[in-house]
Amino acid sequence: MSLLKAATDVRLRAYAPYSRFKVGAAIRSVEGHVHIGCNVENVAYPEGTCAEAGAIAAMIAAGDSKIGEICVIADSPDPVPPCGGCRQKIAEFAAQDVVVTLCTTDGKFKSMTVADLLPGVFSAAHMVKSDEGRV
Ligand code: THU
Repeated sequence: MSLLKAATDVRLRAYAPYSRFKVGAAIRSVEGHVHIGCNVENVAYPEGTCAEAGAIAAMIAAGDSKIGEICVIADSPDPVPPCGGCRQKIAEFAAQDVVVTLCTTDGKFKSMTVADLLPGVFSAAHMVKSDEGRV
């Protein structure tokens, strides 16, 4: 299935009564499976989750390991870039050259890489493994 179709379909199931901004995301894992997610809001606003986070959770729950490609769609005048938190979440599970395609429901799209989205990403390589700070 095309990622755009998968993201388009799941967007319609988004739960966004507060923002009224429905977002769909679809990942093709490096293992070759499609995983989907939509935003799920909460009356306690910060508890809501983004579409990208949902798709990543579905990928991990299904037993796949990494993002090979990701597509995000929303009804917006221009392709909406993932929020800062989602950039970090995507970077955890994707190589720097993985393509992220951002789409609008009226057919606009923009493709970029994970490195474009989050240059200088904080990664596990930055953490010095010492006992400093341990209790
Ligand atoms: N949202 C996403 O699902 N993904 C993004 O990358 C941007 C924002 C959702 C979160 C919230 O439910 C709504 O869009 C408005 O911010």
